Amino acid sequence: MSADTDRSRATGPGLDLGEATDVVDLHAAVLREKAEPVEGREPLNLWLVVFIGGLVFWAGSYLTHYSGGFRADEFSETQINPVPPPVAGGGGAEDPVTKQARAGAIVFTTYCQPCHQADGNGLPNQFPPLAGSEWVLAEGPNRIVRIVLNGLSGPVKVKGADYNNQMNAFKDSLDDGQIADVVTYIRNAWGNKASAVTTAEVAAIRKETASKVDAYAAAELEKVPVSGGGGASAGAAALTPAQLREALLKLPPAELKTLVEGLPK
Ligand code: HEC
Repeated sequence: MSADTDRSRATGPGLDLGEATDVVDLHAAVLREKAEPVEGREPLNLWLVVFIGGLVFWAGSYLTHYSGGFRADEFSETQINPVPPPVAGGGGAEDPVTKQARAGAIVFTTYCQPCHQADGNGLPNQFPPLAGSEWVLAEGPNRIVRIVLNGLSGPVKVKGADYNNQMNAFKDSLDDGQIADVVTYIRNAWGNKASAVTTAEVAAIRKETASKVDAYAAAELEKVPVSGGGGASAGAAALTPAQLREALLKLPPAELKTLVEGLPK
């Protein structure tokens, strides 16, 4: 009989067999009971909470360190084809050509690199190279800006190799400043070295060719003079240092002083 096993418990008069009299004992047993767990509200392991908290903290600091300020150009090709950093000294202001090329590198990555490749070498038989290309390195921007504005189609020779493909127009997707920047960039990337192209030059060529809707053919471009001609800024050639010096020396000293003080530090 199971009741017999409880015989050891204190029983007294008025108590049923097996009934305990010790209230503290009795309550202790009740207090030890935990509430029935409810599904979905089970208590969490404290270490798990600490671990996940730590993980969230680590993720936060990781993002803070490596997000690059969430700038759109953070992972741009500029880092693969870095434009030389501004040379120290010389007043510290970034050389305007470098600044333009820096902006142009971003345009290049988005609009030109899919075909002409990050190293500017293009792809054999498909996309001609820009690195070392005579079209890119031409003395003036007349032809290259036309190519970017309207595109190029049909047979063309670049660095001795023949191509016969199509390049689309960028008239509508790039403004004058962006074209000036990207052309300046490709004229000075991958070992290329040629003069910068200004927004005004691009604007003038865009205006001059406004009525042309289709892409250029290489033969058509060869008739366009490489430099000079038409462009509004073509006459506004930069002064040589000697000419500048001469012009400055002619100024009254007071004016020269105001001028120098007005220059960016
Ligand atoms: C869809 C691919 C494609 C894109 C994008 C593209 N090009 Fe081209 N590009 C070509 C092809 C193809 C040719 C040669 C066309 C031909 O065979 O007539 C060419 C030719 C050229 C040339 C003259 C030849 C040479 O290699 O020097 C220049 C300069 C040029 N592209 C610059 C650019 C610039 C700058 C951009 C970006 C704004 C750009 N291209 C975007 C495909 C492309």
